[in-house]
Amino acid sequence: MSGLFIVTGANRGLGRASAEKLLASGKHVVLACRQPEEIKDEFDNQTHAHVLPLDITSDASVKAFAEQIKKLDKPIEALINNAGVFLETSKRTNNHTSLLEADLKLIQQTIDTNTFGIIRVVQALHSLLQKGARIVNVASGMGQLSEMEGGYPGYRLSKTGVNVLTRILADELGERGIIVSSVCPGWVKTDMGGPDANRDIDQGIETIVWLALQIDIESGLFWRDKEVLDW
Ligand SMILES: NC(=O)c1ccc[n+]([C@@H]2O[C@H](COP(=O)([O-])OP(=O)(O)OC[C@H]3O[C@@H](n4cnc5c(N)ncnc54)[C@H](OP(=O)(O)O)[C@@H]3O)[C@@H](O)[C@H]2O)c1
Repeated sequence: MSGLFIVTGANRGLGRASAEKLLASGKHVVLACRQPEEIKDEFDNQTHAHVLPLDITSDASVKAFAEQIKKLDKPIEALINNAGVFLETSKRTNNHTSLLEADLKLIQQTIDTNTFGIIRVVQALHSLLQKGARIVNVASGMGQLSEMEGGYPGYRLSKTGVNVLTRILADELGERGIIVSSVCPGWVKTDMGGPDANRDIDQGIETIVWLALQIDIESGLFWRDKEVLDW
């Protein structure tokens, strides 16, 4: 029996496209997003789709989401931690993206969503993960220590943190056969990536969806284009 495939931040961008691809392949998909009413109608006639509210920065919202998942009475087969923010835009930072001038509040908010958000979601849902389930954490090359450059400290820290979470969870959930992966989608044309990005959404989601379906790959690795990256 197919379990649930949960995608956070599924109302637009990479999350939405990943959820739609999984739905098209017949999976039971939970589209988790902050404003479910905005997209609910579009999925009304798809019996395998569940659109549910989730704000990953809110303990109460994450708890209520976990309760709704329990009511669906199916184990979780894959959890795609996709929801994320990039707050250090040129408008917000006045073109000053250097760590030396960075606004600590922006860094904190970024980490609260991109890194702590995953911790909240995993803490609330881990008991519902089936044996051999997959957790796919959407990270970024901007968090890759071996290629680290200056600028955007909040986003970089938050995504390096995502990779740390992948390693910790791979160890802690290994006994249950759960495979935990980090993935960089590349630079993708979404609201976050912007129109100058060099990848379209289909390319961006390919490895994300692939990882959610893989049952026999090594856990605790960092991927792009179905190949393992250095940390
Ligand atoms: N695009 C790229 O080039 C690129 C490159 C590397 C990594 N990534 C990563 O890929 C993931 C998806 O990015 P994207 O390009 O698809 O960005 P996007 O188009 O800006 O979408 C971001 C998604 O995250 C959701 N989200 C943000 N904060 C949330 C919260 N507190 N609770 C629940 N959902 C929240 C947004 O929901 P709302 O509509 O409610 O805001 C939206 O659905 C992110 O983790 C991003 O860091 C993207």
